[in-house]
Amino acid sequence: MRRNLSLDKPLQNRIAVVTGASRGIGFAIARALGAYGAEVVITARHRKSLEAARDKIPKALGVRADATRPSEVARLFRVIRRRFGRLDILVNNAGVFTYKPFARTTLADWRANLEANLTAIFLATRAALPLLQRSACAHVINILSISAFRAFPKCSAYTASKFGALGLTRVLGQELQSEGIRVTAILPGATDTRMVDEFDFPVHRKRLLQPDDVAAAVVAALTAPARTRVEEIVLTPSSGRL
Ligand SMILES: NC(=O)c1ccc[n+]([C@@H]2O[C@H](COP(=O)([O-])OP(=O)(O)OC[C@H]3O[C@@H](n4cnc5c(N)ncnc54)[C@H](OP(=O)(O)O)[C@@H]3O)[C@@H](O)[C@H]2O)c1
Repeated sequence: MRRNLSLDKPLQNRIAVVTGASRGIGFAIARALGAYGAEVVITARHRKSLEAARDKIPKALGVRADATRPSEVARLFRVIRRRFGRLDILVNNAGVFTYKPFARTTLADWRANLEANLTAIFLATRAALPLLQRSACAHVINILSISAFRAFPKCSAYTASKFGALGLTRVLGQELQSEGIRVTAILPGATDTRMVDEFDFPVHRKRLLQPDDVAAAVVAALTAPARTRVEEIVLTPSSGRL
């Protein structure tokens, strides 16, 4: 029996960028998009881990780019323009996490969180816009956090950056609607990645969300009928505990 390619590979022929995809949630998203047929470009700062991740995703392209540096972000989208001429999916995933009491949070910690978790979304989305405007099914997905609407102690810089990123995502959702560009925020709770190494208490990793769970939410938003926009997905561990 002939298989229906569009059901098997619902993201066939889509061009996707996932920032911060050398490990963790970004890697799981990139791998899922590739498995559903998309051509995936992944980014991160460190070459070795980026190349190792790229080699695990068929046909993926790795471009080293610090999401906080305007010139590197501009170069990334120049590469995409030359190679593909357009962009269908931008996943703003790159991020950092500082877990410290406010009184010990340095200006460098503050800036690192604001730059990687908020300014990076501004930079990539602005640079990607002309390429997204050439797509018939453009979609921006921002990987935020439950820290975008809930306060946890020892997370001041991270929380400020993610609250800001949710505000930016909501404005983009409104503004880009008229251009046919869909915008979705994914707001995961604690997920089993290197990021949770920061906690100063023992964590039951098996109880946490897994990176593939977040990737499944991204795929669900991307494959929703074109007439619908999944605005926000909040995802938390069902055990309710860390
Ligand atoms: N894990 C959680 O509990 C959790 C929960 C909710 C939301 N999130 C969010 O999910 C996203 C991914 O987190 P994760 O848990 O997968 O973290 P992770 O395992 O630490 O991975 C972070 C990824 O981002 C890259 N990265 C960091 N800074 C970057 C920069 N300036 N430019 C480009 N790439 C950068 C890292 O590679 P390089 O170091 O080589 O650049 C790595 O590939 C973040 O936005 C995070 O806030 C995580």
